[in-house]
Amino acid sequence: MATAFERLKFELNSSSRVWLVTGCAGFIGSNLLEALLKLGQTVVGLDNFATGHQRNIDEVQALVSPEQWSRFRFIKGDIRNVDDCRAACKGVDYILHQAALGSVPRSIEDPVTTNSANITGFLNMLVTARDAGVKRFVYAASSSTYGDHPGLPKVEDRIGKPLSPYAVTKFVNELYADVFVRTYGTESIGLRYFNVFGRRQDPNGAYAAVIPKWIAAMIKGEQVYVNGDGETSRDFCYIDNVVQANLLAATTNNLEAINQVYNVAVGDRTTLNQVVDLMKRQLISFYPYLNIFKPVYRDFRTGDVRHSQADIAKVQRLLGYEPTHRIDEGLSEAMDWYRQLFAKDYFE
Ligand SMILES: NC(=O)c1ccc[n+]([C@@H]2O[C@H](COP(=O)([O-])OP(=O)(O)OC[C@H]3O[C@@H](n4cnc5c(N)ncnc54)[C@H](O)[C@@H]3O)[C@@H](O)[C@H]2O)c1
Repeated sequence: MATAFERLKFELNSSSRVWLVTGCAGFIGSNLLEALLKLGQTVVGLDNFATGHQRNIDEVQALVSPEQWSRFRFIKGDIRNVDDCRAACKGVDYILHQAALGSVPRSIEDPVTTNSANITGFLNMLVTARDAGVKRFVYAASSSTYGDHPGLPKVEDRIGKPLSPYAVTKFVNELYADVFVRTYGTESIGLRYFNVFGRRQDPNGAYAAVIPKWIAAMIKGEQVYVNGDGETSRDFCYIDNVVQANLLAATTNNLEAINQVYNVAVGDRTTLNQVVDLMKRQLISFYPYLNIFKPVYRDFRTGDVRHSQADIAKVQRLLGYEPTHRIDEGLSEAMDWYRQLFAKDYFE
C-alpha cells in the first residue's frame, strides 16, 4: 500500500502551489527547495547567506529541469528585516521556515546574534505570514527543547529546562507559534528535528555538525575529534526523512494534526563511537589509509545533552510519517555525495 508521502507526492505533481522556504541556501532549506521543484511546485526562497551558500542553490538548479527552475524566485534578504519577510510572504500558500542560526556553541559564544535571527526573525515571519493570509506555517523546531529532561525516548509533551541559548530560542519559537494560533487563529506546525544529516550539510567552519565534519576529515586523512568518551548518543536523522515530514505537515487536512509539535527522527539511538565505525567501514575501500585510523577523544562540550532518542509515534500517527532511511542507509548516500564533491574541490 502506498504511504501517506507517496500519495502526497502524486497529488502535488498534479497541482502547483506556492511555497516559501526561508533559509533556502542552507542544508535543509536547499533540500526542501529541490524536492518541491521536482514536484512541480512554485517556490520563493529567502536567505541572507549568513551560513548558507550560493553553491547549494546552484546545485539544486543543476538537479532540476529548466522548466522546474523557472518556478523558483530567490530573494536575498534577512528575516530580521520585516520588509524582506513581507516581500517573501506575498502570495504564498505554505511556509517552511528554516532560516535560523544553528549550533549550540555559536549561541553560547554569541547569544545576542542567535537571539535576533532565531527569535526576532521568527516573530517577523509569524507576523508577516499572518498578515499575508498564508495557509500554514511549518517551522524548524529542535530536539534541544528537551534540555535536561532525563526521559528516553523523548515524548513531545515532556520537556526539561533548556541547556543553551540556542535551545531557549527554539523553545520560544514554539511558544510564539502557539500564542499566534490562540490569538490570531493562524495554523502552524513545529518539527523538532533530531540531528539531521545528508547532502549539502556544511562540513566546514567552527560550528559544523559532527557527521559532515568527520566525513571530511576521514576523506582528507585528517584527525577526527570526538567530544567526550564517544558514548554520547543521538537519533541521527537523514535529510529525506525531514523533507517528508515538512511536506506532510504543510499539507495535512487532519484537523487533529494541526497546531502541534512533532519529533522528526528515526526512533533509533546511535553512539558517536558507532558513527565513527560506520563511516570508517563505508569509506575504507576508497581510502585504504583508514585501516590505521583512530579518533582522538577530548573534553565533553558544554551545553550538550548526553543521550537523545525520539519517540516518533505521534508524527507517525497524525501525519502518516514513515522514515525511509535509517542511519546506515543515510550515511551511505551522504558519503557518496561528499566523496564525489571533495574530489572536485567543491568546498574549497
Ligand atoms: N541540522 C540539524 O541537525 C538541525 C536540528 C534541529 C533543528 N535545526 C533547525 O533547522 C533549520 C535549518 O538548519 P540547517 O541545518 O539547514 O542550517 P543551515 O545553517 O545550513 O541553514 C540555515 C539557513 O538560514 C539562513 N539564515 C540564517 N539567518 C538568517 C537570517 N537572519 N535571514 C535569512 N536567512 C538566514 C542561513 O544563511 C542558512 O542558509 C534551522 O532553523 C535549525 O535551527 C537543524
